[in-house]
Amino acid sequence: MVEPFDTVDLIHRKRDKGELTADEIRWLVDAYTRGYVADEQMSAFAMAVFLNGMTSDEIRELTLAMVASGERLDFSGLGKTTTDKHSTGGVGDKITLPLAPLVASFGVAVPQLSGRGLGHTGGTLDKLESIPGWRARLTNEEFLAQLGSVGAVVCAAGADLAPADGKLYALRDITGTVEAIPLIASSIMSKKIAEGTASLVLDVKFGGGAFMKDYDRARELAETMVRLGNEAGVVTRALLTDMNVPLGLAIGNANEVRESVEVLAGGGPADVVELTLALAREMLDMAGLPDADVEAALKDGRAMDTWRAMITAQGGDPDAPLPVARHSHVVTASEDGVLATQEALPFGVAAWRLGAGRARKEDPVVHAAGIDLHKKPGDPVRAGEPLFTMHADDEARFPRALEALEGAYSIAPAGAELPERPLIRSRIA
Ligand code: URA
Repeated sequence: MVEPFDTVDLIHRKRDKGELTADEIRWLVDAYTRGYVADEQMSAFAMAVFLNGMTSDEIRELTLAMVASGERLDFSGLGKTTTDKHSTGGVGDKITLPLAPLVASFGVAVPQLSGRGLGHTGGTLDKLESIPGWRARLTNEEFLAQLGSVGAVVCAAGADLAPADGKLYALRDITGTVEAIPLIASSIMSKKIAEGTASLVLDVKFGGGAFMKDYDRARELAETMVRLGNEAGVVTRALLTDMNVPLGLAIGNANEVRESVEVLAGGGPADVVELTLALAREMLDMAGLPDADVEAALKDGRAMDTWRAMITAQGGDPDAPLPVARHSHVVTASEDGVLATQEALPFGVAAWRLGAGRARKEDPVVHAAGIDLHKKPGDPVRAGEPLFTMHADDEARFPRALEALEGAYSIAPAGAELPERPLIRSRIA
């Protein structure tokens, strides 16, 4: 086969701040997927994009080329509309767990193809795998059958969905080219467009525990993804949410499942409930149910019934005890006052060091490891009162976790003025 373009020419053009045509981008992605374009060349290209950016036309073509690299799911035979959520990831972010069954309890299908955690942010599949028997891998037939019967499915994305992204993402991970808006936006949206959902809400996080630290950059990412989704026929909205403080009180895997079940039982921490309800309202509105009473569905057990059905359908036992760590270590307040700061990133790193996360894709996670917070910023504290409890199977992990937490929380005198930080900062529709 005679290749229509020269890879090095395309790299030069991007390096010199030029623009690629749709045909060139389609060819590049296809040639990379089939192995003609080498990893070294694609790394150079990714770095050129990282440094020089891409136009919106280029980002759209890159996204569509990655969609075209694999299969597209088709929900047209399902008989109900589909809606999905994607979060850019944060510490204690377990929202998918209560959200998917809550939305599905209104008769809408929620196809949640999820990933595993890498680094300090946890993965939804890792959390659910704390439930004895639960399995993340489903065949396409099982996936569709469960979407039809239960409505909510959270499972692993198959390798056939946007395979070009799988290959490029692994390369970006080891070449310092992850944090480029065109590459992140096309990576996330290619998978969501290929998944075939009719509508999508994005939870784009900003702040210390998010991988976009800065609000303005997170907003640019959100706007780019909303545009990509809508142009590709997926009704897409975004909420920009604060990730300077961990979400909820549980950071880990099994403890995050426990907290999610509390939310499904009508309780749970206020911030987790607020975000779950806000995202559910967006999803149901896009699905044509603007008046759905989501709060009632959490209080009256409908969402819980769907959760139980969802877990059972994937082999899990919703009543089985969740794993408990062999050791715990409580950190107490050194003085009276008010908890002033609790930084998400160090708490995420500490949970990861306790065994809740993995350093390499192949590593297992320790489901019972993690941190339970007993106080949130703004809460009054007394000297000697527990601030948080760390859990690990191996006591030797505590010192390294504590090291990560040095300076990560502070106590101010009672009555000190603390900055107001709304959880949901803005919305893009
Ligand atoms: N998640 C993705 O799927 N892709 C990225 O590039 C970043 C986060």
